[in-house]
Amino acid sequence: LSCTAVVPAAGAGKRMASAIPKQYLTLAGKTVLEHTIERLLAHGAIERVVVAVSPEDQWFDSLPLVRDERVVRVQGGRERADSVLNALAAVSSEYVLVHDAARPCLAMQDLDALLAAASQPRGAILACRVRDTMKRGDGRGAIAASVPRDELWHALTPQCFDTQALRRALAEALAQGQAVTDEASAMELAGVHPLLVEGRADNIKITRPEDLALAGFFLQQLNE
Ligand code: C5P
Repeated sequence: LSCTAVVPAAGAGKRMASAIPKQYLTLAGKTVLEHTIERLLAHGAIERVVVAVSPEDQWFDSLPLVRDERVVRVQGGRERADSVLNALAAVSSEYVLVHDAARPCLAMQDLDALLAAASQPRGAILACRVRDTMKRGDGRGAIAASVPRDELWHALTPQCFDTQALRRALAEALAQGQAVTDEASAMELAGVHPLLVEGRADNIKITRPEDLALAGFFLQQLNE
């Protein structure tokens, strides 16, 4: 299965409380985004990486990676789904894999497992099981109920789909004003149930300041 990767990288990363968007923070001598793109390009099945970048972005064009002809810049959008949909306009492969800019610790084995599962109409996502006991709140600060955790997964990325099917699903979700925080949500709204491929829990999304140090540790382990 050969495919194009789409990397939405147009977010401002407000939860990081940093002047620089999180994808441009430095991790082991490089930006988070460079680590993310390099890991994708290191896999033989990924031919191109289309990166959705904000029009106000002051960093992307100075990365050495932009000279790699396999890396393509497109304009990001208002929401993540807009950014991904814009990027899909530059994708011509049958399958597409979408991966968060802020997830630099992707293991090659996880990518292999995802791609092996993704060549079917419903698509597939990397996910990991929740570890804690899960509660649903009642909205007033108390527990409404416990939620059986054996049914619950964290949705990670990459997420891999038939390109046309994802394009239709995202366009429909946006047209309906539905909030989709990952690509699988858009497929679900279209009545499709993508496969869960169990991946490593250390494929974290850098969200809070302390995540950067954790990602540094995980990256070092992946490279050993
Ligand atoms: O904010 P969050 O961590 O959920 O963002 C996930 C990914 O989506 C990040 O890589 C971010 O750069 C990207 N994004 C985007 N366009 C937006 C908002 C977020 O490409 N408008």
